[in-house]
Amino acid sequence: MKIELVNINKSFTKNLNVLNDISLSIEDKEFCVFLGPSGCGKTTLLRIIAGLESLDSGEIYFDGKLINDTLPKERQIGMVFQNYALYPHLNVFDNIAFPMKISKMKKRDIRINVLRIAKMLELTDYLNNKPKQLSGGQRQRVAVGRAIAKNPQVFLFDEPLSNLDAKLRSTMRSEIVKIHSQIAATSIYVTHDQIEAMTMADKIVLLNKGEIQQVATPMEIYHKPSNLFVATFIGSPQINLFEGILQSNQEHMVISNQNVDVFSFPKLDFLMNFINQKITIGIRPENISYLKNNSNPIIIDAVVNFIEYLGNETIINFSFQNKIYTMRTQDKVNFQENEEIKLFLNPEYFLYFNEVGNNIKV
Ligand SMILES: Nc1ncnc2c1ncn2[C@@H]1O[C@H](COP(=O)(O)OP(=O)(O)OP(=O)(O)O)[C@@H](O)[C@H]1O
Ligand SMILES: [Mg+2]
Repeated sequence: MKIELVNINKSFTKNLNVLNDISLSIEDKEFCVFLGPSGCGKTTLLRIIAGLESLDSGEIYFDGKLINDTLPKERQIGMVFQNYALYPHLNVFDNIAFPMKISKMKKRDIRINVLRIAKMLELTDYLNNKPKQLSGGQRQRVAVGRAIAKNPQVFLFDEPLSNLDAKLRSTMRSEIVKIHSQIAATSIYVTHDQIEAMTMADKIVLLNKGEIQQVATPMEIYHKPSNLFVATFIGSPQINLFEGILQSNQEHMVISNQNVDVFSFPKLDFLMNFINQKITIGIRPENISYLKNNSNPIIIDAVVNFIEYLGNETIINFSFQNKIYTMRTQDKVNFQENEEIKLFLNPEYFLYFNEVGNNIKV
């Protein structure tokens, strides 16, 4: 099922738009993730697609057909919420069977379907258990199973893993992606967790304050963020930002902050229009190195602030011109706090943002 949203607007109180002119296409069988901070409108947009929330203006099309006035139960949608309320008095079999009973499916077909779904979700051994006899992950799978039982064309998930512990979340992430490809439905998955978005999505829709900031693949959104909001929202530790007024001489460009040079870098034609304007240069922590080589010609004098050893990598927090920045490395490093070090930057990885925060190159 292809889903198209055209100029969706929604407000709950006058003059306060919760969704502002949202236009978006989600392709058939795509796994699309709505990502954004708390309160940005993700759930509201999902509920509008499900038909559970009215909209002020705009159109929703399923496979080219306008469905604004189609009732939720006629939209062929399966939903899984954060609080996947299972029926506590029904066992796993009957919880999964419930939507099929409602739609008056024959008993024999219900049985065949429940067994098929239980097998897919590895719940076969638990069919007689009540929800309280299941682990969190098993309960979550029953909720997914109940949504599959409706044979949906569209699967909507609203933060379905946020009640689970870290290890289970990670297993469930891959299971949900697997189920998505097995049932061949179009899936929309809401989360504020960037790891979930990066690992699960074909396409990420990043929202802030009811507006789309960027629609892109995980790789694009990481490497080509359309603006500073996207650049800082994605990536942990956060991208480093160096602000200053752009200036140019014969060979170099330089950004300077209150007449102090931040650093200079090789001249770039596409930046010529931004001379004497404020720009922000972004560089991710993995693209700063304490080792000099030919590809990172820019040197800054830094002071080690504190070091976090994470086992597989080390995060070095350093200060430079009275601000704190971070770099990360997979090497075992032995720096001391307050040690003065030289760090090397590779301009190939720089991202450039104009004074209103838009990526100059995207
Ligand atoms: N029924 C409602 N009445 C009034 N305001 C509402 C209603 N539902 C949501 N809102 C407001 O709309 C905005 C968006 O809410 P929404 O639940 O869509 O955010 P969200 O992105 O899902 O956030 P979270 O990540 O915290 O779940 C919030 O400011 C919220 O307070
Ligand atoms: Mg929400």
